[in-house]
Amino acid sequence: MSHNKTTSASISETNHAVQSLFNDYVVPTYGRFPLTIERGEGSQVWDVDGRRYLDMGGGIAVNALGHSHPELVETISNQAATLTHCCNLYYQPLQGQLARALVDRIGPGKCFFANSGAEANEGMFKLARKYGHEEGRYEILTCMQSFHGRTMACIAATGQEKVKQGFSPMMPGFRHVPFNNLEAMEKAISPSTVAIMIEGIQGEGGICSADSSYLRGLRSLCDKHRLLLLWDGVQCGHYRTGAFQSYSSILGDEKNGSSFLPDAISMAKSIGGGFPFGAFWVREPYQDILGPGTHGTTFGGNPLGCSVALKILEVIERDQLEQNVVEMGCLLANKLKALAERYPGLIQGIRGMGLMIGIVFNPEISALADDPRPVSLQMVERLHAHGMLTIPSGIQVVRFLPALNITSSEVKEALSILNDTLESIES
Ligand SMILES: Cc1ncc(COP(=O)(O)O)c(C=O)c1O
Repeated sequence: MSHNKTTSASISETNHAVQSLFNDYVVPTYGRFPLTIERGEGSQVWDVDGRRYLDMGGGIAVNALGHSHPELVETISNQAATLTHCCNLYYQPLQGQLARALVDRIGPGKCFFANSGAEANEGMFKLARKYGHEEGRYEILTCMQSFHGRTMACIAATGQEKVKQGFSPMMPGFRHVPFNNLEAMEKAISPSTVAIMIEGIQGEGGICSADSSYLRGLRSLCDKHRLLLLWDGVQCGHYRTGAFQSYSSILGDEKNGSSFLPDAISMAKSIGGGFPFGAFWVREPYQDILGPGTHGTTFGGNPLGCSVALKILEVIERDQLEQNVVEMGCLLANKLKALAERYPGLIQGIRGMGLMIGIVFNPEISALADDPRPVSLQMVERLHAHGMLTIPSGIQVVRFLPALNITSSEVKEALSILNDTLESIES
């Protein structure tokens, strides 16, 4: 690799050159950390300076099988050489196979394919509006602190003011109510309401899980008022909690959460393992509401994406990664709780499920007080300095969203890096 041959002076120049190209030519919508990642393998990545990092962020819950998984590399290259794109004017073998694989894992219904989480959610909004159209019902209730994406409808749906600022007027038809509060949800239902949408575990909102009684209550409310229950599984889905969708983990049901089903579920992130892909599933009897001409996207369900998504499902099942998520998640959570006890001045709590875990830091750590930035950002940066990637969430939470095939030695390495980082802050 080039970084092995370069001197440290030229290495820094490479890093600087990459970042200044971004600053000059890329619209600055992201606050980026000063890290330039060049390549990855499994749960490790290397920056342009040849420095290795343990990747516990998984590209924000995307890299389901880690980086450059050999079977995904092979699948992508074989499919690229066979049929890369085939527009949705025609049939192609893989899209139906993938839809069936998802239906098998959720319940009777059908799937629509898109390219991202926001698009998958947009599709669900259109489904809900079409469902309520004849009766003049259009309003979708969502939760405070939720996150549903960055398109105009998705920022209107998101229960966080910061994503809306500067983009008014908001698209009408969305209202937010406190999360995990059934009474507030019931009170908010109006004659215009057509759907309720939630994340099973709020990811951007700080790893906050819905309660089991809340889920059962929402299902009853939706049945009583003929509302669709829309489930945003973009971050918490695809085995991240140890079950295909997080409601099974939350409710502790047997496989597939057989006694509870939302009416539609959006998926993205891990479904493509790094290939941009999204989907929504819709249950019977609503599966044909969006008929020909009502919705579409050029790339949705393209053969390349479908081949990757099918291979990921095959590997997860074959390698029993569902079980790995449960075991590694328990190991991580238990050891993190022990660390929280060792550093009570730094860590306020550990929350989450499976491999979706948040460390809640004290927002006012005195050793970090000189820097005005939130503790979450400062901690993520300090972890970078110790060789680990994690994801900030809000002002005080740092997330672990690693690959589903993470090993116990990698989990132990993550804990040791975290311990070293905490020790360096406390001393
Ligand atoms: C719960 C949830 N929904 C939707 C989205 C939007 O997905 P995308 O960025 O692929 O559009 C995200 C992204 O972080 C998410 O976490």
